[in-house]
Amino acid sequence: MQTIYNLSAPTAAEDLRSKMQEQFATMLADSPWQFQNRTGKMATEHRRLLRYPTMELEEIFELPVSRLAAARSHLYLWVPNALLAEGMEVVRRWGFTCKSNIVWHKIRKDGGPDGHGVGFYFRNVTELLLFGVRGSMRPLTPGRTQVNFLATRKREHSRKPDEIYDLIESCSSGPFLELFARFARHCWSQWGNEDVEANSTHGVALRTGHDNSQLRRMETPKGSRVK
Ligand SMILES: C[S@@+](CC[C@H](N)C(=O)[O-])C[C@H]1O[C@@H](n2cnc3c(N)ncnc32)[C@H](O)[C@@H]1O
Repeated sequence: MQTIYNLSAPTAAEDLRSKMQEQFATMLADSPWQFQNRTGKMATEHRRLLRYPTMELEEIFELPVSRLAAARSHLYLWVPNALLAEGMEVVRRWGFTCKSNIVWHKIRKDGGPDGHGVGFYFRNVTELLLFGVRGSMRPLTPGRTQVNFLATRKREHSRKPDEIYDLIESCSSGPFLELFARFARHCWSQWGNEDVEANSTHGVALRTGHDNSQLRRMETPKGSRVK
């Protein structure tokens, strides 16, 4: 995929820095990872499924998360199975030590594994939420009996289960910050490039937010020739 840069717009790191100044005890992030195959091209299935602009790994590293994190804090980072090593490195670069993970099992209505996902080696029916700690900070008392497994039905492309907020709130302390948020969540600070209020009102992600001039990276316009 060709990348078009609008150099007058702030980078994601600059945008986040300008909008969030306080420090947070808990952060949840669902990064817009870029998938590439061995030739360096975007994997076909991801190109087909791409519903939002993505960020290069370096741009994700550069987000000022360690500045936003309290000295003792928790990080929850969604990471696709194919990018586990990259996800672990993001946790490290953001100033956290990876301590555990939570497995999301995507199930059908009848409780069986929902095999509609993608995957080059296996058909993925799970996604991982990495758990990192900065300073010394054990989960809260209710969280210590929480199992690291969540089985819920899948919704729209890339949308994560709402149950994860309840789980995080029972295991970790506020103030809470969500990075790359798409839907509003009460009592959380949120950052991203979508209109969370409008999305929440309609119950689905409205794509108009991606025409926002604040976006530095945009999808290739239809009809352009990209090798
Ligand atoms: C994986 S999705 C988040 C999905 C969300 N957690 C949910 O459950 O619905 C990644 C989000 O990052 C946003 N995004 C992409 N590039 C961005 C940028 N440069 N700055 C801020 N947000 C960006 C996308 O528009 C998308 O909303």
